[in-house]
Amino acid sequence: MTQYISIQKAMDKGSGKVSIRGWVHRERGSNKLKFITLRDSSNVIQCIFERQNFEKLWGDIDHLQVESSIMLTGEIKKEKRAPTGYELHVTDFQIVGKSDKFPISKDQSVEFLADNRHLWLRSLKMIAILKIRSTVFGAIDEYFKKEGFYEYHSPIFQAVQCEGGADLFSVDYFGKKDVFLGQTWQLYAEPAIFGLEKIYTISPSFRAEKSKTSRHLTEYWHAEMEIAWATFDEMINYGEGLLKHIIKKVVESNTKELESLGRDPKELEPTIKKPFIRMTYDDALKILKDKCKMTVQWGKDLRTVEEEKLTKLYNVPVIVTHYPKEVKAFYMTEDPDNSKVVWGCDFLAPEGHGEIIGGSHREPDIDKIKKRLRDDGEKLEEYEFYLDTRKYGSVPHAGFGLGVERVIKWICKLDNIKDTIPFPRTMERYKP
Ligand code: 4AD
Ligand code: MG
Repeated sequence: MTQYISIQKAMDKGSGKVSIRGWVHRERGSNKLKFITLRDSSNVIQCIFERQNFEKLWGDIDHLQVESSIMLTGEIKKEKRAPTGYELHVTDFQIVGKSDKFPISKDQSVEFLADNRHLWLRSLKMIAILKIRSTVFGAIDEYFKKEGFYEYHSPIFQAVQCEGGADLFSVDYFGKKDVFLGQTWQLYAEPAIFGLEKIYTISPSFRAEKSKTSRHLTEYWHAEMEIAWATFDEMINYGEGLLKHIIKKVVESNTKELESLGRDPKELEPTIKKPFIRMTYDDALKILKDKCKMTVQWGKDLRTVEEEKLTKLYNVPVIVTHYPKEVKAFYMTEDPDNSKVVWGCDFLAPEGHGEIIGGSHREPDIDKIKKRLRDDGEKLEEYEFYLDTRKYGSVPHAGFGLGVERVIKWICKLDNIKDTIPFPRTMERYKP
């Protein structure tokens, strides 16, 4: 039986007879020669068919269309002029699946590519991003396991809001209407720290945000952690450690992919090597005023434009802490030294990418939580299970959530979050 190896392995071998298989990425030819660029998940390589060797089969070879799947055997050798430095002289081949005329060619509109997303996943750009995405998921898992966290899962059907009622997706749950798709695992994670102490998850989250921006999805993957006995600073240190680990893994494993996307891996190195910038919300307003000529009224949340301007000043993430209470969620600990602000933080990615992590220390005082829930117009009965976390042996605890696609957007230096996920879901698109 023929032993097929990946295109990358064949090139690593560099000479002699090899068998490879994949898809026709590009094709061109004359009546004597046919050149195809063959693609598999590992790389692409130029392959050459000479008519004199395949006189009877020339019709089939000549008609090979882009995206046909084929298996090839031939002699590989170095060839400076070939796109990846090697070329395969085909001695034997088998067509596995013919291809209709592939709808995607050069210079097609963003809309067309979105309609044909299932086919666009074969593009070198998507392949590179999806490989990086795979590294990121692995790195998150690895980091938390290494730090002694248990993987834990919350339900996705939930009956409480955590990050504001305005952007919940309601679900028709056997006729009941007060069921939502989870925005976060948090309210179902806090009860679990009493048993497991250090927990994390990577799970889909859903936000019905009516914002058509380059950083909002309606369905995104959320890496969250919750930790018992932790101070605000300890939680922040884990966020910094996690991001450093993710970037380190990607730089180690995906240099080729990063470069193909126009991201110089060196630009990510400060994040691995240097401490992140930490500043309070008040500091951030001052820097925005002094260095960016932008005035933010105290008490207003930082908007995308402000995060963009602020983070363009740095080449490592910026951690903004002590936000005004009004702009943050009900569960954040009120600062004992200043009841106007909370122990909440946002990690902002450099170069203008903005918020990638939101976290906080959790308010220990049950009465404060109840008051803030009431002020938000919530029904306290629904939160009884959550309020129990403050009744039976409560301990200081904290946690954060990282938007995986936001991190990938930054790592890959993409303008839009949509390309970080195979089938993006946004306000306007839920197909294919
Ligand atoms: O800041 P958020 O809303 O915080 C929480 O959900 C907390 N309960 C997390 C926790 O403490 N366990 O969301 C966390 C992160 C954001 O920083 C952002 O990176 C990402 O989730 N995110 C989105 N990513 C893509 N599309 C959206 N619409 C997002 N909304 C939030
Ligand atoms: Mg947030």
